[in-house]
Amino acid sequence: MATRINPSILSADFVNFESELKRIANADLVHVDVMDNHFVPNLTFGLPMVQRLQEVSPIPLDVHLMIDDADRWAPDYAETGAFSVTFHAEAASDPVALARRLRQIGARAGIALKPGTDVSPYLDLLPEFDQVLVMTVEPGFGGQSFMHDMMPKLRSVRSAVNAAELDVWLQVDGGVNAETIEIAAENGADTFVAGSSVFAADDPAAQVELLRERAAG
Ligand code: DX5
Ligand code: ZN
Repeated sequence: MATRINPSILSADFVNFESELKRIANADLVHVDVMDNHFVPNLTFGLPMVQRLQEVSPIPLDVHLMIDDADRWAPDYAETGAFSVTFHAEAASDPVALARRLRQIGARAGIALKPGTDVSPYLDLLPEFDQVLVMTVEPGFGGQSFMHDMMPKLRSVRSAVNAAELDVWLQVDGGVNAETIEIAAENGADTFVAGSSVFAADDPAAQVELLRERAAG
């Protein structure tokens, strides 16, 4: 199974994003965490920053929207040319309509689930999405511990994706490091977000390679 390593710039130096992106240019995608201080108790940046990141990044953008009113805002992020835009199920009034709109604009459409959100209502809707993001921490902050009790949720999505032979990527985000990535991979994840474990490393590119090896098993 193909795997992808997406470093999260939430753990990068916010005033030096251009040079930070060069340090992880060997990664598959760059994970961009947009937070609005409402959906999560933390604030990062919005549309103008994502537009600029899109212009300077050597690799495509995997935008993770942790914002309220996703129906209103997610299409604007897709319009920046982002490779994928993932919104939270809890913040969208009509996830299927929104995903269709994102695809129409040309982005891959992702749906994210907080740890407390049941995945069952979404399993029949998987053909509408290109990516499911199973959060393995409460969204809002980097550097938290991987929630092992999310593994049954990962396995449910993996089973449904395989049973229907869909090309839906299964992403994990939160507490992913050289150890937990193996556990996530064993439980069906194929797309891995890693913030602190990549940017805290002396050589972020080497850490990306290590994660890639571990994910491949
Ligand atoms: C958390 C963000 C994550 C964060 C992960 O709400 O969605 O993308 O950057 O950071 P680590 O890898 O440090 O847990
Ligand atoms: Zn994220």
